[in-house]
Amino acid sequence: MKKIVLAYSGGLDTSCAVRWLKDTYEAEVVCFSAFIGEVGDRKLLMQKAKSAGASKVYVENLKEEFADDFIMPALWAHAKYEGKYLLATALGRPLIAKHLVKIAAIEKADCVAHGCTGKGNDQVRIEVGVKTLNPDLQIVAPLREWSFKSREEEIDYAEKHNILVSATKKSPYSIDKNIWGIAIEAGILEDPWTEPPADAYFMTRPLSEVPKKPLYVTIGFEEGRPVSLNGKSIKLVALIEKLNDIGGRYGVGRSDLIENRLVGIKSREIYEAPAATILQLAHEELEGLVMDRDFLHYKRVLSEKYAEQVYYGLWFTPLREALDQFFATHQSRVTGFIRIKLDQGQAVVVGRKSPFSHYSEELATYSEKDKFDRKAAEGFMKIWAMPYRGHKGK
Ligand code: ARG
Repeated sequence: MKKIVLAYSGGLDTSCAVRWLKDTYEAEVVCFSAFIGEVGDRKLLMQKAKSAGASKVYVENLKEEFADDFIMPALWAHAKYEGKYLLATALGRPLIAKHLVKIAAIEKADCVAHGCTGKGNDQVRIEVGVKTLNPDLQIVAPLREWSFKSREEEIDYAEKHNILVSATKKSPYSIDKNIWGIAIEAGILEDPWTEPPADAYFMTRPLSEVPKKPLYVTIGFEEGRPVSLNGKSIKLVALIEKLNDIGGRYGVGRSDLIENRLVGIKSREIYEAPAATILQLAHEELEGLVMDRDFLHYKRVLSEKYAEQVYYGLWFTPLREALDQFFATHQSRVTGFIRIKLDQGQAVVVGRKSPFSHYSEELATYSEKDKFDRKAAEGFMKIWAMPYRGHKGK
């Protein structure tokens, strides 16, 4: 191994990893950091990586690419793993894999590395992503190999090698955050019977602190893409960030679940995803207004499959690509407005309209405006029941 590109977060693990890789493999280490959540301190990140021994540091703001190429497809797919998790972390990993491979090519590196642990899903997502994009690259996961047994040992190692690490107190949780949401695990959360304490939430307020009065927001969609907020056009990343802020203030988008990891473990994780919750609710509602029953019911099956593909690290695969085509097919009709009420931790749809709406008041009404042909209903039942006539139920 001559040159390694490391996915570098600036945290203790990846900081130690720079030096460890350099010494263990006698290789040059190039660091790559991506901003897909908050934009961090670029200079500090570079300083830290250099202090750990990196020969070069790439820091890239990839929020737009993340939103356009990863969040949008997941939004169209209505992707939720096990019906609940909106996949923020799972969507971020293939993006990181893609850029690791890209930088490895630029740098003529023969290896990439990451700081994922050996029992999580993220190692799978990054490594399968890298292998699908460039099977010739070697991959090293220092956390699966090195002998550090505790955080203290890593801190000692960093001190010994003059590696700059932030002085901030370590949170008792393991956190991963980007604009599509935050995942929080470990610490006291490992006891599935314990209610998450207040300090385990970062993006949303508890119900005791949300505004008393509800807030109404209107999201405008054009051809499937959310393009406006309360009548004002807004870019996708800005909209997501704004909805995280507003939704968070109303306590929207929290969940607490036991999920089935790909590696076979059940884990307890809590999530906050205000913008993702609101946007997926809005998109589902609008699509429900403009599409027919068969399409909608069948799509649910594919949504579940799609969420699994994403969760299992199978992003760069023929099936995911084909499913994206399916979900894109009728987005041109998903144009219109959805009105949502944010109230006491909930986001609830209260209004919807679209030029492509299939809703007909004349057909639905119970008033004198009714145009529904009740006579025809009789014949419909006759034929619908035909196969089952006389079948005595159990
Ligand atoms: N369980 C989530 C997933 O597999 C999140 C993983 C990262 N979580 C964390 N707290 N570091 O996508």
